Order: sequence, then structure tokens, then C-alpha cells
Amino acid sequence: MVDKKTIDKMYELAKETIEKAYVPYSKFPLAAVLMTKEGKFFTGVNIENAAYGSTMCAERTAVFKAVSEGYKEFKTLLILSNTKKPVSPCGACRQVINEFSKDIDIIMMTYDKNMIIKTNNELLPGSFNREDMEK
Ligand code: THU
Repeated sequence: MVDKKTIDKMYELAKETIEKAYVPYSKFPLAAVLMTKEGKFFTGVNIENAAYGSTMCAERTAVFKAVSEGYKEFKTLLILSNTKKPVSPCGACRQVINEFSKDIDIIMMTYDKNMIIKTNNELLPGSFNREDMEK
């Protein structure tokens, strides 16, 4: 389970981070804050592109930043949106998170701290994994 102090810290980080979202097309900024097993934080925003399909989600930005810095085990991911209801990670993000940490707690949170917490495993049951490729 995630303690309140950690949630508060991740929320504050996400509030700063969301300002950096590059969203000229959707005008729908999102921020992700990822906490590693070691307690290190990586942030991410959605980064859009004139070729829409080249857009990168906030969650994957954070995961790719962490992996490229040598961190592959994650404990908690907070997703912040300026919406009434919390926003959940898209299918591609769930699959990427699943590659590294199936039991990670995903905190989906709004500006006014409306919150849903689920594990990635709950969000992506019956997932395709590395083991499925064994002959
Ligand atoms: N988006 C994310 O950053 N994460 C998700 O899990 C869902 C969608 C972004 C992509 C795009 O910039 C905007 O939200 C609208 O789809």
C-alpha cells in the first residue's frame, strides 16, 4: 500500500511537472511521477507531435527516463490530470509498465485529489509477457 506522505510528495512533484506538458493539439496536459524500488523519482509529461501518432504519453516518458538511467523496478506511479474524474493509463502504457513491474500501485489523481488506486496487474489482466515467448 502507498502511504499518505508519499502520495502527497508525488502529487506536489506532479503539479510542478504538468506545466511542462507539450500539448498544443489536445490541450490535455498529463503528468506522471514514477517511484522506483530505491525511492528515486522520475517525472514525465505527454509530448505531442504534428504527426499525431508520434505523440508520447506522460507515463511512458517517465518509465523510459527511468530505464535509460538504469532503474527497472518500480513501486508506485502517480498520474495527474486536471479533470473531474481520474485518468487511467492507456493500453500501450499499461503494457510498457507491465514489462517492468506488474504489482506497481498506480495512483490516478485529479487536481482536487480525487483518487483511484489500482495495481497495473488489475488494469491489465491476462497480459502478454516475456515468458509467453518461451518455446
Ligand atoms: N495521454 C497520456 O499522456 N497518457 C495516457 O495514458 C493517455 C493519453 C495523452 C496523449 C495525448 O497527448 C493526450 O493525452 C490526449 O490523448
